[in-house]
Parts: sequence; structure tokens; C-alpha cells
Amino acid sequence: MDKIIIEGGKPLKGKVRISGSKNAALPLMVSSLLVDGESVFSNVPKLHDIESIKRLLSDLGARIETTGDHVRIHAGGLCNHEAPYDIVRKMRASILVLGPLIARLKKARVSLPGGCAIGARPINLHLDALSRLGVDIKLEHGYVQASVEHLKGSDIFFDIATVTGTENIMMAAALADGVTTLHNAAQEPEVVALAEALNMMGAKVQGAGTPTITITGTSELRPVSISIIPDRIETGTFMIAAALTRGDITLVDCEPSHLEVVIDKLRHTGARVELEEKCIRVSGPNTPLSVDVKTLPYPGFPTDLQAQFMVLMSVADGVSIISETIFENRFIHVSELKRMGADITISGNTATVRGVSKLSAAPVMATDLRASACLVLAGLVGEGTTVVNRVYHLDRGYESIEKKFSALGANITRIKG
Ligand code: EPZ
Repeated sequence: MDKIIIEGGKPLKGKVRISGSKNAALPLMVSSLLVDGESVFSNVPKLHDIESIKRLLSDLGARIETTGDHVRIHAGGLCNHEAPYDIVRKMRASILVLGPLIARLKKARVSLPGGCAIGARPINLHLDALSRLGVDIKLEHGYVQASVEHLKGSDIFFDIATVTGTENIMMAAALADGVTTLHNAAQEPEVVALAEALNMMGAKVQGAGTPTITITGTSELRPVSISIIPDRIETGTFMIAAALTRGDITLVDCEPSHLEVVIDKLRHTGARVELEEKCIRVSGPNTPLSVDVKTLPYPGFPTDLQAQFMVLMSVADGVSIISETIFENRFIHVSELKRMGADITISGNTATVRGVSKLSAAPVMATDLRASACLVLAGLVGEGTTVVNRVYHLDRGYESIEKKFSALGANITRIKG
């Protein structure tokens, strides 16, 4: 297993290009299953999760060709309706194939994803919604066994604004008869990007980006050519890195409008944040001020930046309260941060972070994607040499992160394991 070694204390300065969004690319690439033809995706990030979804789509019968950051997917030969446990357990976003398989093949056998480090991650809302569209759902031997004669539009009320649940149902409803209305739908930019793609394919999706989305189904969709939107979580990670290291970083090819709450919070810590078209410049304060954060569905503070922001608060002047309302177990990184000298106490879904003057380097263990990013950030300011183990978590969602940090002046190297 690879490790990342970081010598902390260097302010990060310079320019970094933000890659395409993992959480936009995954549903967009899966949406190509809806089409008997070849769709083209550009600005696709080079990530383990992208390789995983390509393998799954290929196993289902799609033909895939990658050239640089362009991925061509031809789903005319879609013939296999099964997503096996071995793939789904490694990447729960595989559940996104459920909607398109049912829409195209009228059946699907997809492994239940199971939980992960940050929570149980059930898919009951996906399945309840599919049932409302007329799909017969059986759970047997750890699999979802789904079949339908005739997908029919319906009114669906999500108890929780589920991101991939909204995406799954939008894709199924695009080939259903009649109108489907999603209430309490997720509003994330990645949902909007998928809706825009479906409309380019010939579907009629209205209201994406609001809590109420209507999808008017059609009989056939056409191939599209789509550029993946910038990754707002990678953007936020580098913005926090600038504030954390007293640095001065200019992020290019990003989308400032996707990070309004993060920009606001960073400004309250005393960081200077300047915005231009597709560009954000962040310079860090000498000592950040403590700021409270509560994670919420978009447009609230993203849960995927909670761990990274906690590192900033761990060396801030004061006490900050960080509440995690989306996932039930997303403080796994806290114990590792405490080993580096952070002063954090947890009560339920709330962490109280008392700023300390410095973190001290230590060998630490990554447990999930965003927690591993948090540990790299902590290493950037930890006094001494930090060794981050199990960085395969990091490679799932960050493209060459150590190269990007090194180009900004960080003393960071990857040791091939
Ligand atoms: C998406 O996961 C993202 N993944 C996650 O990013 C992100 O953290 C999450 O949305 C929240 O923003 C992708 O887009 C591929 P949810 P998703 O369904 O869709 C509960 C990363 O690091 N729930 O919005 O799986 C669920 O347990 C990843 O890039 C149900 O109870 O999240 C959670 O508490 C991590 N039943 C809440 O809803 C369901 O059927 C929100 O989950 C579905 C969800």
C-alpha cells in the first residue's frame, strides 16, 4: 500500500488547476446506459472510482474508450443486467446503474452496497421511489432483484434529500411514461449537471437545483457530448489548504458559485478570498479565527468538507462547534487528529474543537476518502514528518493530490507500497 510522507510547515503558494468532479462524472457516465449510441465525456478526472465505474459499465455490455480526459461510452450493446457484490461493495455509487438498467432492460440485479466507514448508507429511498414507478423490488441473497413491465411516472416524496437517490430516479423517470415529480429532491450541482445532460439527451427535466424536480418521460434518448463540471470538494480542499498554511493559492478551472457557503465560512476565519470567473484566490491569515459549522444538504456546508475544515479549526484562535448532520459516523478522523495534538471532544454528532498553537507530525491511518484528505492537510502544518498510510482511499477521489500540493511548495512525496 502506498504512503504519503509530508514535512509540515511550508506555506503553499501558486496556482492549481481543479479537476473534473468525481460526483458529477459518476452519474453522468452511468446515464450513458440510457442511450443506444455513443456518448462522450470530457474533463473526466483520473481517479480509482472512475476506473471502477468504467469496469462496471463494460461488464454490463457498454463499449468504452478513453483518450486523455475524454471517455467515450457506447451502450448500444447493453446486455447484462447484473452489478455484482464485488464491484458494488468497493464503490457504493455503483447503485446508480439500478435506474438506467431498469429503464433500458426492464430488469436489474444489483448488489446491496452495504455500509462504509462513514455510515450504514442504506438505499431504502432509492428502492421505495422505484416501487412508486411500478418496479417490482425483491431483496434476496444480498441483492436487489428489480423488474418492471411498464415504468410509469409518479409523485415521489423523499424523506431525506438523497443525492444519488435523486439521480437514480431522474434517470429511470426519463424513460418512464408520464410525469414524475420528486419532492425534497437533492439540489447539489452534480444533480443539476445530470438534469442538464438528460435534457440534452431529449428528456424533459425541470426544477433541478430546487427541492422539486419534474421529469416528463420519453420513449428514446439520444447520445450526448458533455464536459464534467469542476470538483467543488477538491476546490474546497485546496482553499482550506491555503488558509491553513498561511499560503496564497489561486485555483483555476473551478466554479465559485458552487462554494458560496464555504467561501463565507473561510472569510469568517480571516482568510482573504477573491473571486473571478472560474477562479478563486485564497490567502491565509496568520492565525485563523474559530468558526462554527453545521453540515447540511446543498446549498448548506458540504459534509465532504467537514473533516478538512476541522483541521483548520484545530489550529484556530478559539473554540468551534462542528455538527455533522448527514452521516452518523463521520468523525473517524478525529482520533487521528488528536494523535497529532488536536484538542477535540465529541458528543453525539457534534465536535467541539479547541484551537491549539500547533499540530505535531505523526504516523496516521486514512479510513475513508475525505478523512484521508484531512490527514494530508494536517501533515502540511504538523511540526515534523507525517506519514499517511492507506492512501488508496485518497486516490478514489483526488487526482494526483501529492503532485498538486508539491507544485504549490509542499514537501510531500508518495512512497509506492
Ligand atoms: C452522495 O452520496 C455523495 N456521493 C457523497 O460523497 C456525499 O457525502 C453525499 O452525497 C452527501 O452529500 C456521490 O455523489 C457519489 P445521500 P449519497 O444519499 O448519495 C441517508 C464522497 O466523499 N440515506 O445524499 O450516497 C444516508 O444514509 C462521497 O465523495 C438513506 O437513509 O448520499 C445519509 O445519511 C461520500 N436512505 C443521507 O441520507 C437512502 O436510500 C444522505 O445520503 C439514501 C440515503
